[in-house]
Amino acid sequence: MSELNLILLGPPGAGKGTQAQRLIEDFQLPYISTGDILRAAVTEQTELGKKAKGFMDAGDLVPDDVIIGIILERLADPDCRDGFILDGFPRTIAQAEALDTALVDFGRHLTAAILIEVPDEDVIKRISGRRVSVKTGRVYHVDFDPPKHEDRCDVDGSRLIQRDDDKPETVKHRLEVYHQHAEPLINHYEATGLLRRIDGTRAPTEIHDHIRATIATLRLEETL
Ligand code: AP5
Repeated sequence: MSELNLILLGPPGAGKGTQAQRLIEDFQLPYISTGDILRAAVTEQTELGKKAKGFMDAGDLVPDDVIIGIILERLADPDCRDGFILDGFPRTIAQAEALDTALVDFGRHLTAAILIEVPDEDVIKRISGRRVSVKTGRVYHVDFDPPKHEDRCDVDGSRLIQRDDDKPETVKHRLEVYHQHAEPLINHYEATGLLRRIDGTRAPTEIHDHIRATIATLRLEETL
């Protein structure tokens, strides 16, 4: 079976992380989430975390030169040999071009850029109800995907919190930042024939089925 190199695109709260969790189970691939990497660095107060914190709290993008090297280095790790699921990267044309160049250098190519499309009103509802486990990172929603016990993770009972950048005013700004960069990025992947659009307004299970069917078709096409 050929390698599966996927990127997940879409606005904040589109459900990229939710779908990635399901895809990891399907394909047993390493999951690389720039948001998770940066949040862990902030918690651990590493040099990366210190550089990133102000940008993240404001809902701005961390500068390209801070994030690109980290992700390209991660993709060179042996566990990414059979593929990877990248969530939250690339977010700018500079990041997309750096990824293209690195993959050419590795003698590899992207399988697809999966764009999960969700209107801004839905994003706001989703993000305002999102809760995340402090330990497992499992994501819930107070209405759409509630935990069995209030404010506790189903996996290990750990506390559920709201992300610092999920405050309404920050979410509004994150959406503005997304729209500022989305069009050129989408055009980039449309031009290379890699873009696959997914209706993200449906239930998570239906979205997952659609993504899996899309990947199955791509793999079939590769064998023809
Ligand atoms: P990051 O963590 O990547 O945030 P994001 O892209 O804004 O995406 P989210 O994690 O908010 O949403 P998601 O699409 O994963 O949705 P989820 O599945 O959780 O980035 C955070 C910050 O880090 C950035 O602002 C930036 O500062 C920095 N950063 C990261 N990458 C960077 C980069 N490459 N360059 C520069 N800076 C970078 O779902 C959301 C909610 O909706 C959940 O509650 C879920 O349960 C619910 N839900 C999911 N699917 C559905 C559905 N189908 N129906 C109903 N509810 C649903």
